[in-house]
Amino acid sequence: MTTTHDELQRSAADHLLLHFSKQRLDDLLVLERGEGPYVFDTRGRRYVDALSSLFCAQLGYSYGAEFAAAVTEQLTRLPFNTNWATAHPPAIELAQRLTALAPAGLTRAYFTNGGSEAVEAAWKLVREHYVAIGQPRRTKAIARDVAYHGVTLGALALTGVPRFKDAFGPPPIDVTHVSNTNAFRAPDGADPAAFRDRLLAEVEAAIVAAGPDEVALIVAEPVQNAGGCLTPPPGYWRGLRELADRYGILLMADEVITGCGRLGEWFGVAREDVTPDLVTVAKGITSAYAPMGAVLATDRVVEPLDARVLRHGITFGGHPASAAVALRNLDIFARDGVLENVRALEPYLRDRLGDLLALPIVGDVRGAGFFWAIELVKDDANGRFDQAERDALLRGYLPGRLREAGLIARADDRGDAVLQIAPPLISDNAVLDEIVGGLSDVLTDAGKRFAAA
Ligand SMILES: Cc1ncc(COP(=O)(O)O)c(C=O)c1O
Repeated sequence: MTTTHDELQRSAADHLLLHFSKQRLDDLLVLERGEGPYVFDTRGRRYVDALSSLFCAQLGYSYGAEFAAAVTEQLTRLPFNTNWATAHPPAIELAQRLTALAPAGLTRAYFTNGGSEAVEAAWKLVREHYVAIGQPRRTKAIARDVAYHGVTLGALALTGVPRFKDAFGPPPIDVTHVSNTNAFRAPDGADPAAFRDRLLAEVEAAIVAAGPDEVALIVAEPVQNAGGCLTPPPGYWRGLRELADRYGILLMADEVITGCGRLGEWFGVAREDVTPDLVTVAKGITSAYAPMGAVLATDRVVEPLDARVLRHGITFGGHPASAAVALRNLDIFARDGVLENVRALEPYLRDRLGDLLALPIVGDVRGAGFFWAIELVKDDANGRFDQAERDALLRGYLPGRLREAGLIARADDRGDAVLQIAPPLISDNAVLDEIVGGLSDVLTDAGKRFAAA
């Protein structure tokens, strides 16, 4: 590398617009190399990537040569063709193999370049479905508070974070946001059956209030990311399925994070034994060696559209190079036992993270698979940090202290203070120990500054 660390910092500040970030950061983390679960910055410092580059790098960073061979072979044969009324073998094969791994019934795949586009395309499929079956009045949706479903304007309407939306005018979809499955501070959170029944009653009330024949879609993540790895109480997804069926509404699992092995399954909703009508995936579909997303849908959703022209298309959706990478990703998952690794180590990771509850600043540890959140609290009574304290802890203190500890994790503020980890799915016990050990050091120090003993 010829450009120095300082030059990169200056050039980034002058020219590169950052996503979801202030534009002037004192010390921008610039990563230039990866190896296994580790990444290296332009000062040569090594970090465990305990967040898999925003929940994407399922395989970590050492499969480049293998994916490059798959891409070279595809680009040499056919660099590009669209899926606009034409197709190419990698997209066809990927659609077939991905749907074969999905819960039975999800037989069709529509490819995009990422998660927001997948959610956006799913909504268009839903609307086209209802227009085709003579129910055009179904224009509304039910989603959940704090949930993140992407940033394009349709997906943003489903997103339940008002401050991401306020600046952009009236949302194009009429969405009712209902409570999510955060049990930690819920009055009935310790009684999963009561909690589930209350949440489902709220969903039903929202459907009735919106007008049952005007609601098109219920959307939820199997484990909600925003708010901190919110697992559902047992029976919640079956309840959503029953409500959707009772009112003729389609049910969608947004698996942009929870899919592709993050929960030890190709599709996290398989843990709930429920088949949604649509599923969105992205991020881990290529283990981030190329950009891609997809919507999977059942025959029931798509059959009414078969004789019509679908009014939605994305030039690069299902790009041959990305499809070739996704196919190789499927091969590697099977060959290297990636899902099996997550399933085998989930109990170990849960137990090790559970030990952190002994720290005064740790109030709750929750999650599944390789997808976990630690909720940070002020005292033994699980007191909440106020906004100023959250700013100081999550934006001021933790990012720097985590870097110092050689860890990439996510300090997030959705009203509650949460630290998230999502290690690469190839991590072994030693890597998980390194992550939890680092977290323990950082949170011990944070507790001394921010929590009452
Ligand atoms: C559940 C969920 N849906 C959709 C998206 C949007 O995906 P992308 O950032 O690839 O557009 C995200 C991104 O984090 C997500 O977590």
